[in-house]
Amino acid sequence: MAPFKSLALAAVCMSLLGCRGNRSESPPIHLQQNMDFQHRGEAQEKNPVSPDSPLYRDGRWMRLPPEGTVAVGHLKADDHYWRGRLPNGKLADALPARIKLDASLLARGEDRYDIYCQPCHGTMGYGDGMATRRGGGFQGVKPANFHTKKLAPAPIGYLFHVASWGQSTMKGYAAQIPVADRWAIAAWVRTLQVAHRADPDTFPEGTEITRTVRK
Ligand code: HEC
Repeated sequence: MAPFKSLALAAVCMSLLGCRGNRSESPPIHLQQNMDFQHRGEAQEKNPVSPDSPLYRDGRWMRLPPEGTVAVGHLKADDHYWRGRLPNGKLADALPARIKLDASLLARGEDRYDIYCQPCHGTMGYGDGMATRRGGGFQGVKPANFHTKKLAPAPIGYLFHVASWGQSTMKGYAAQIPVADRWAIAAWVRTLQVAHRADPDTFPEGTEITRTVRK
């Protein structure tokens, strides 16, 4: 029986290995279909307008989102917070509800102001920062002094607005400074303005003065 056994073994080996290297044009046998072959459009693929795919006549598979669609987490419905404006479109003269006025807000505002605004507007907001003193004017325009007749009474929403989107020759900082920090900065600029008008003689005993107001 031994020759039969080895012949059978040889036959098995040949049937397993014999086809190696023989290419076939027909597709491999796909036992488990799993909806692998279906009529579908891939991302960025063209949708040929044909009787086979009569769905989208504009020739693309990817659909535009319906008008007004907002990505998750990007709903900016609170105009006061995101744009500094009241429902009537006017600039708000108060902090938005979700910004709490406390010592930590002002500390954050001072910190961010000193980074982003102070180089031009100066520590106390007189428009005399180091960049201004060293570099001269900006296209001939000096950074604003926050204590002028025009700016001192400006609504805090205006300070937020300028910090965000700039004004005339000043560029906005919406791309660099997160919105909550822009409110903190606006609150700090307002603080500088109030401090400028304050009379040191009326301060309670022992008040610590950390910044010198220029007379
Ligand atoms: C690179 C210099 C520079 C920096 C930094 C800068 N500003 Fe200004 N800012 C200016 C200049 C210049 C003007 C004057 C613009 C004009 O009148 O054309 C100005 C004007 C302003 C005004 C007055 C606008 C008006 O109606 O007259 C405000 C308020 C203001 N800046 C706030 C800020 C705040 C807040 C920051 C920090 C987030 C800041 N600025 C950072 C240069 C700067």
